[in-house]
Amino acid sequence: MSYSSSWRSPSNIALIKYWGKHELQLPRNPSLSFTLSACHTDMTMTATPEQHGSLTVLFEGNPKPAFENKIRSFFSRIDTYFPWLRNSAIVIDSFNTFPHGAGIASSASAMSAMALCIKDIDDQIHHRSIRDTAWWSQVSEMARLGSGSASRSVFPTAALWGISDGVPSSSDHFAIPWHQEVHPFYSNFEDTILIVKDDEKAVSSTVGHQLMELHPYAGARYTTAKENLVRLIMALKSPDLIDHFITICEAEALHLHALMMSGPNPFVLVEPATISIIKEIWRFRKENGIPVCFTLDAGPNVHLLYPASYKTEILQWIRSALLPFCDKQEFIEDRIGKGPEKLSAPVSHHHS
Ligand code: DP6
Repeated sequence: MSYSSSWRSPSNIALIKYWGKHELQLPRNPSLSFTLSACHTDMTMTATPEQHGSLTVLFEGNPKPAFENKIRSFFSRIDTYFPWLRNSAIVIDSFNTFPHGAGIASSASAMSAMALCIKDIDDQIHHRSIRDTAWWSQVSEMARLGSGSASRSVFPTAALWGISDGVPSSSDHFAIPWHQEVHPFYSNFEDTILIVKDDEKAVSSTVGHQLMELHPYAGARYTTAKENLVRLIMALKSPDLIDHFITICEAEALHLHALMMSGPNPFVLVEPATISIIKEIWRFRKENGIPVCFTLDAGPNVHLLYPASYKTEILQWIRSALLPFCDKQEFIEDRIGKGPEKLSAPVSHHHS
């Protein structure tokens, strides 16, 4: 007897950034993200009970032992709740729609997909089938133990993770859905991701989070993040507050990178091209009055956020003015998405 589950889970882009953690991936400040769509992981997990457990990790159909340690440590954090993880032959196969290590949070889509597969197999073992609010909170909490940002990938449109002023249901342990709180003006946003450079990241986010522990500005950062979150929650309720949305979004992105540059062991993840793109966005917005803004992940790539109604003119501008700054003239046309989806067939069939 063997169990199998396949899920598609999206990446997400934080507007209020999670940067600094303690204990088992508990955040130092709350964060809020948009759920993406085109950037996602398709994953199939199979579990065959046997005496001694084993783990086989495939990525795009080929063995990927490099991922095993991270997955094993994730399993060890949750296997008291899912004891079958310890005495099953586990095979994980996954595909990403975006380049690995490009600063697009692949850990968010991969770890949320893995949490979903585990939870689903556990339901099969115990003959359960209800996916209610509590079920999704549990998946978010499991995903968090794999990677903090993954906790936010399991909900449509937007998610909030971490105890937040004025949000009694918020928690450091799992993200909560934020779809209801987002005006349709924002839930129809595009996220066009300019791939400035698709190299592996020079500094992993785990190392980045650690550096916050000795950062002289850490206290000020956590206070600012909490304040920015309260202001963003307000802005997301009304298209009239788009100027606030833009100000907060860009401040958070710049803050994240300023922290990297001002820590005890400084590092720089932006490229000269990143700065050129930011300046061109500011020029374009001022000149044309089109509400387009940027955010950044822990890498050089630029996420352009804007209402879908401006897509034609913005894509034209991207092609002529921004792509020349990108290494391979690459960009990903993403948008705000609907959250994870259970797949009916194993992923290898799906893609071949
Ligand atoms: C800059 O979630 O990748 O993307 O919890 O150590 O796995 P771990 O870190 P991770 O950190 C993401 C940092 C960020 C901001 C964010 O997504 O909120």
